[in-house]
Amino acid sequence: MFSLLVVISTAVVFFILSWGGISQSITWTAFSGKLLRTYGGSWYDSNLTVLDNKGEWTPPPDGFTSTIKAEKTNFKTDVPRASTHRPVAETPMPVLSIKAFKKLPKWDFEDKYNQDAPPREPTCAQSLRMSNDEKFKKAFLPNIRLFLHKDNINMSEWNRLSHFNNPFGFMGFKYDDVMDSVKFIPKPKEPLLRPGKDGCIRCAVVGTSGILYGSKLGKEIDAHDYVFRMNGAVIKGYEEDVGNRTSVYVHTAHSITSSAYVLKKFGYKSVPHDEGIKFVMIPEGMRDFQWLQGLLKGERVSEGPYKNRRPRTYYADQYNETRFYVLHQDFLRYVRNRFLLSRNVNASFWAIVRPTNGAFTLFLALHTCDIVDAYGFITDNHNKYSNYYYEKNAKTHIVFYANHDYILEKNMWKKLHDSKIIKLYFRPDPENKKP
Ligand SMILES: *[C@@H]1O[C@H](CO)[C@@H](O)[C@H](O)[C@H]1NC(C)=O
Ligand SMILES: *[C@@H]1O[C@H](CO)[C@@H](O)[C@H](O)[C@H]1NC(C)=O
Ligand SMILES: *[C@@H]1O[C@H](CO)[C@@H](O)[C@H](O)[C@H]1NC(C)=O
Ligand SMILES: *[C@@H]1O[C@H](CO)[C@@H](O)[C@H](O)[C@H]1NC(C)=O
Ligand SMILES: *[C@@H]1O[C@H](CO)[C@@H](O)[C@H](O)[C@H]1NC(C)=O
Repeated sequence: MFSLLVVISTAVVFFILSWGGISQSITWTAFSGKLLRTYGGSWYDSNLTVLDNKGEWTPPPDGFTSTIKAEKTNFKTDVPRASTHRPVAETPMPVLSIKAFKKLPKWDFEDKYNQDAPPREPTCAQSLRMSNDEKFKKAFLPNIRLFLHKDNINMSEWNRLSHFNNPFGFMGFKYDDVMDSVKFIPKPKEPLLRPGKDGCIRCAVVGTSGILYGSKLGKEIDAHDYVFRMNGAVIKGYEEDVGNRTSVYVHTAHSITSSAYVLKKFGYKSVPHDEGIKFVMIPEGMRDFQWLQGLLKGERVSEGPYKNRRPRTYYADQYNETRFYVLHQDFLRYVRNRFLLSRNVNASFWAIVRPTNGAFTLFLALHTCDIVDAYGFITDNHNKYSNYYYEKNAKTHIVFYANHDYILEKNMWKKLHDSKIIKLYFRPDPENKKP
């Protein structure tokens, strides 16, 4: 037997590199009661059993505070041994059950990530990579592996990643179910972005927040070398405020399929489809691997919630496998661990807690661009505006879904802005219009 039996105790400390130290003076809004709802549209009970389409959702009252129980998890498992002489793993480790853990388990290799050779020499003097912020420099891994493909996974990788819940790894998934898709993901032939003449890559990352409605930022956004968008990126009719270009579109199977019908009433017809656009997928769950298999093979989805759908029809004639990228579990986990680690990873619903798709997109830009301007991300006065820009001035507010920590993200964007690592668009409170 080549594996090593390790008993992980809660005493392992590995988040020392985390960048932030954000003080949490804000009341944590978390979720009590039996049902939890996620942005992905699913309902869960407190045992994380999916209960789709059940129950009425009522947001928790303002100021509701959760009690987060730190439960001790002692768990034995085979882990890949950190030795250069280890025999190559040949079989997948036994599937770990998410339900076996009462909170996020901690492994001593939690904070170890694959890194890749840098795609280019940094030549941009204004690059965020040149930041002098000591904490940021320590946390930031400029060459973190961004993309998963068929050539960068093998059995020991599978076993390592099987210790982390999705989307940070493959806990609870069967090897064949995932690998039947991953074996079709081609190795990207080119870097996501290329620098311009002065060696700098200037990016706009456009979130969907209501502060963009009436902002008239369209021209400024479009003037960047690259424009990133994600999720329900409604453009038609909002060009003056949000621009009309999209170079990189980040999505999940859920976001691309649900946008098609949820956003119809806002004029949304399809994903952005500029000539040569790059599509980036966040593989957040099994359904994304099922989607990927259909997409990459050009067939119908064979299993799961999207069974019989034809994924290629969702990309507005711009699907091309040379421009399709799948984010790597190490990248997603690194973003969570070092920048956006919510206290809710210690709550009973730990396994659904993750950064938003917008957050992963902004961090993807931080790792592929030199200069990042963020528009339409959550700021302190988000409640003064509608939830999404395409809702115009409707009185809608952000629903604080249980799976995301919006306050933590809001503080992180402000901190990155204050440290001059990104430029974040703030908007003053709307003036009270007198009749
Ligand atoms: C969760 O699981 C425990 C133990 O199996 C059970 O006693 C409890 O009733 C379950 N909770 C819910 C909400 O189903
Ligand atoms: C498996 O993949 C990892 C990550 O890409 C790599 O570091 C390792 O050398 C590979 N192992 C084998 C046996 O190929
Ligand atoms: C965006 O608008 C500009 C100016 O109206 C136009 O020239 C350009 O073709 C549009 N681009 C896209 C992708 O629609
Ligand atoms: C996909 O993109 C590649 C590289 O740009 C190009 O050579 C190829 O013709 C494209 N394929 C399709 C089906 O458009
Ligand atoms: C989770 O709980 C452990 C043990 O009490 C604590 O050390 C850790 O800081 C907590 N994690 C977060 C992100 O709050």
